[in-house]
Amino acid sequence: MNLVSPQILDGQRIAGESLTKLQSSVEAFTERMGRKPKFALLRVGENPASVFYMRRKCAMAEKMGIESIVAVFPVGTPQEFVEEEISNWNGDPSIDGILVQAPLPSAEYQRFIFNAIHPGKDVDGFHPVNMGKLACEDPSGFVPCTPKGILRLLRAYDIPLEGHHVVIIGRSLIVGRPLGLLLQSRAVNATVTVCHSQSRNLAEITRTADVLIVAAGQAKLVTVDMVKERTVVVDVGQNRDKNGSLCGDVDFPAVAPRCAYITPVPGGVGPMTIAMLMENVIQACAVK
Ligand code: GUN
Repeated sequence: MNLVSPQILDGQRIAGESLTKLQSSVEAFTERMGRKPKFALLRVGENPASVFYMRRKCAMAEKMGIESIVAVFPVGTPQEFVEEEISNWNGDPSIDGILVQAPLPSAEYQRFIFNAIHPGKDVDGFHPVNMGKLACEDPSGFVPCTPKGILRLLRAYDIPLEGHHVVIIGRSLIVGRPLGLLLQSRAVNATVTVCHSQSRNLAEITRTADVLIVAAGQAKLVTVDMVKERTVVVDVGQNRDKNGSLCGDVDFPAVAPRCAYITPVPGGVGPMTIAMLMENVIQACAVK
């Protein structure tokens, strides 16, 4: 039996430290420009998770001295109407960053809308130009917030990545895909395996991971038999259990005792994502 308790990767603390460092940049911009940094958020529909996350993003912006505006369109709004709003924001010099909350009504709708955002205001980094820059290791682009936050968290705890095997479960545009690019970049040099819903022998692959990052959106997908001793586990999941409590993609009580490090849910990746969004908004301000 493993009696060594795992170290918790405390996203709340590391996010707080990142935000404290960022505060002076917010103040310098406000002083220099005579206005606060400003970002615009948009969603289509009332998906409860999207409503919740947008509120959290706006609340953090306000706390940091960043102004935010929100547009909400009902489900059924033609893409062109939403595109027009984004086009107005693209041309508005007082708006530094733009974020469209996913999910949108369909994959095609989402692609169309993400492509409409000006790449220089795309603080989520989902525009093909920014994805392309990430793939080309061009540092002038925006890096998606959750992958950037995961890397920042692992760096804060000196988790070795160079030459180590990182297994990612999930290939989404928002997490798995850009995270794979980031971790295999020459700045990180990890050996990356990206698994997804069609992967065979998932447990066999995950047991070879030095670092296992789970972004599948499936509660308790990762069970104790899927993790070797002393693995570093990062849980990106934000699921609701039968009682409505937040839970991750990892069976935390069973898996944690096997790990060297593990993120809690909540308090792990979530706060890092929001902190990196604030950083990207400030990066968008610097583009001017
Ligand atoms: N939906 C889930 N995560 C995210 C995110 O980081 N950004 C946006 N825009 N939508 C999301």
